[in-house]
Amino acid sequence: MNNYFITRQPYSVNNRKESKLLVFVNKGLRFLKTGLNIQQQDTSVDMNTVEQRINYYHLLNSVISDNVPGEVVELGCFTGQCAVLFQKVIEQRKSNKQLHLYDSFFATFKHKGSVEDELKKNFERAQLPQPNIHKGGFEETLPAQLPEQIAFVHIDCGFGGDKFQHKAVMLHCFASIYPRMPKGAICVLMDYYDAKENSEGIDINPGVKLAYDEFFADKPEDIVALFGNQYNHAYFRKV
Ligand SMILES: C[S@@+](CC[C@H](N)C(=O)[O-])C[C@H]1O[C@@H](n2cnc3c(N)ncnc32)[C@H](O)[C@@H]1O
Repeated sequence: MNNYFITRQPYSVNNRKESKLLVFVNKGLRFLKTGLNIQQQDTSVDMNTVEQRINYYHLLNSVISDNVPGEVVELGCFTGQCAVLFQKVIEQRKSNKQLHLYDSFFATFKHKGSVEDELKKNFERAQLPQPNIHKGGFEETLPAQLPEQIAFVHIDCGFGGDKFQHKAVMLHCFASIYPRMPKGAICVLMDYYDAKENSEGIDINPGVKLAYDEFFADKPEDIVALFGNQYNHAYFRKV
C-alpha cells in the first residue's frame, strides 16, 4: 500500500479469519463493482487508528513547516507502525530531520518472532532508510541517547500493565524530553484520556494522564485532546 495512513496490511486482518458476515458483505460490494472492501481493524494489535494517523501526519508536518529545530523521536516504537509514517513525512517534505526510535522490544502483543526484525523489515518494505534504533529500557537509554534537540516526539509506551508503573515510566520520559524540546516543538501522548474531553473510546492506559497531570502541574503548556476513534491521544506544544 502506498499511502500515508496505512503502513501495511493490519495484523488483525492478516491473522484473523474474516467473519462469514464480512465475507458476504464484501462479495456484495464486489458484485456491485463498488471497489470497496471492508476490513476489520483490531487496534489491540494494529496499535493505532486511521484517525490517529491523520493527526500524526498533520502534527509532524506542522513542526517541519514552522522550522522547529531538532529531530523526530518515538518512545515505544514496537514494529514501527507510526515510525514508518513519520519517516514518510520526513522524506516527502525533504526534511533533514533524523528519526530516533527507542524500545526494549520486551512487549510482543500478538506478534510472533523478533519485533526488532519486523520493525526493520517494515522500513525495507516501505523503501525507506533505516531509522536510528536505540534498543533498551528507557531507564538506560533516556536521556543519554536522546538528540540534543527534539522537534517532534511521540510517547507510546503503554502495554496495558499496572497504571502506577506506567506513570513512573511516563514521568521519566517527560523529564528526559522536556528540556530538549525548543519552543514550538510538539509531543503527542498516545492513550491520553480525559473523561471530560473524550466522550468516545476507552481509558486503556490511565498512567498517561496521571503522569501528565503531575509533571505539567507547574508548567505553562496546555494539553489538546484529539479525536482518535476507538483510541485516544492528545498533544502539547512547547511554550
Ligand atoms: C504500544 S507499543 C508501541 C506501538 C508503536 N508506537 C507503533 O506505532 O507500532 C508500546 C511499546 O513500548 C515499549 N516499552 C514500554 N515500556 C518501555 C520501557 N520502560 N522501556 C523501553 N520500551 C518500553 C514496549 O516494548 C512496546 O514495544
